Amino acid sequence: MENNEVIKKKIFSGVQPSGKLTIGNYLGSIKNWKEFEESYDCIYCVVDLHAITVRQDPAELRRRTYETLALYIASGLDPEKNTLFVQSHVPAHAELSWVLNCYAMHGELNRMTQFKDKSKKYASNINAGLFTYPVLMASDILLYQTNLVPVGIDQMQHIELTRDIANRFNQVYGETFAIPEGFIPKAGAKVMSLAEPEKKMSKSDTNTNASVYILDNRDDIIRKFKRAVTDSDTVVRRAEGKDGINNLMTIYTAFTGKTDAEIEKEFEGLGYGHFKLAVGETVADALAPVKTEFDRLMADKAYLEGVMKDGSSRASYLARKTLSKVYRKVGFTQPK
Ligand code: TYM
Repeated sequence: MENNEVIKKKIFSGVQPSGKLTIGNYLGSIKNWKEFEESYDCIYCVVDLHAITVRQDPAELRRRTYETLALYIASGLDPEKNTLFVQSHVPAHAELSWVLNCYAMHGELNRMTQFKDKSKKYASNINAGLFTYPVLMASDILLYQTNLVPVGIDQMQHIELTRDIANRFNQVYGETFAIPEGFIPKAGAKVMSLAEPEKKMSKSDTNTNASVYILDNRDDIIRKFKRAVTDSDTVVRRAEGKDGINNLMTIYTAFTGKTDAEIEKEFEGLGYGHFKLAVGETVADALAPVKTEFDRLMADKAYLEGVMKDGSSRASYLARKTLSKVYRKVGFTQPK
């Protein structure tokens, strides 16, 4: 490396290929990744190892893995400038995860709200992987000496835990891991369900009207917004208790950059119907080019496989460096 070459800070993030991705996934994470492309070294992963903590149909998991990668690219990420890869293609994630399991406490994992929620939702399959999931996530992040992790609010508790594990390890063995910080967007860090706006929008929601999927067609997007649950008031304004309208305003802001005051002015005297239609049309317009590019990419599996291969070899190189450092520090012998 040239002496004057600037070492860029590192970004890592990922999405589980566990369902159709929603505009919550888009606004909370993928849409924001592009802006880091020039100023950071960015690594984005399709986290298939995480997905099997909930039962997946194998053929569907395989298809969704390709789809998630295609969506990353269709959302504007350039595979030449970003490292895009599939988690199971880089064994170091599972390997570091085992080590870090021995530095994560049962009590702290037990406090994770996502574990509590998922244990309720999947009561017949509370497997050990569901419990240790945040340790695998910590490994994803720490393997790359990550500085910044762009995610939705629901992942912030896992990032806090990642920091705790990294600090604990560094204290015992000396500087080993960079301590990462979470990054959440100003608008869209927690997109709510359109059917039950007090609940987070989720790709695993069984009510398909509750979520708008990134790949929904225009008519479905507009129909879902028209049907979005609101309240008995008629004025478009942000206020306590108006969860539905607050959510629609957040979504509108995230896609247009307009402030609350600008939105309130735009829809003054116009009522909810008008507002809902405008949000629906705005979202449909913004997602249309993503869908077109997605369809083009999905028709070219060989290209996607090339991206996966290239991404996993770049990721493996970085991951191996951290993993060997960790193995040395804990006292494992190295094969000669
Ligand atoms: P996952 O697959 O549930 O969600 C992917 C990303 O989408 C964000 N998100 C939302 N943002 C706003 N509003 C919503 N309704 C909404 N729903 C989801 C999530 O916060 C996330 O950023 N554990 C992670 C995946 C992961 C990961 C990592 C992320 C594994 N290893 C390392 C960052 C770094 C997850 O389940 O995301």
